[in-house]
Amino acid sequence: MERTLSIIKPDATRRNLTGKINAKFEHAGLRIVAQKRIQLTRAQAGAFYAVHEERPFYDELCEFMASEPVVVQVLEGDNAIARNREVMGATNPKDAEPGTVRAEFAESVGENSVHGSDSPETARAEIAFFFSGLELVG
Ligand code: CMP
Repeated sequence: MERTLSIIKPDATRRNLTGKINAKFEHAGLRIVAQKRIQLTRAQAGAFYAVHEERPFYDELCEFMASEPVVVQVLEGDNAIARNREVMGATNPKDAEPGTVRAEFAESVGENSVHGSDSPETARAEIAFFFSGLELVG
C-alpha cells in the first residue's frame, strides 16, 4: 500500500469536474483516504511549488493555483504514485494518452487539471504539507 498527494486544480474545480476526475481515480483502484476543498493563498501556493522557484513559469503557476478553490486529497493503493500518474497522463495534455484525465480535461500545460506526487519522498512531504495524521481516515 502506498499513498500519494493529488490536487484537483482551479481549471477543473471551476468547470465542476471534481466528480468525473475522482471517478477515474477510484475506477483505477485508488482510494480517497483524505480530502478537502480549500483556496490557497499566493504564499501557500509558492511554498508548495518552491522546488520550481527558478522556473520561468513559477509566478504564473502560483497565481493560477491561488486563483480559485482546489481539492487536495490523499490517494491510497498498490503503487499509488505511479498509478495516479498513469491516470493523470502526461503534464502537457498534447502528450497525454487518450482516456487520461489530462487528455480529456486539461486546457494547457499550465492549466492541466491535476497534480500528483512524483516520488515516495515528495509524496510524504506533499501529504504532510496539507494533512495531519489525524486527517488520514482510510
Ligand atoms: P504539476 O504536476 O502540478 O507540477 C508543476 C506544474 O507546473 C505542472 O504540473 C504544470 O501545470 C506547471 N507548468 C506550467 N508551465 C509549465 C511548463 N512550461 N512546463 C512544465 N510545467 C509547467
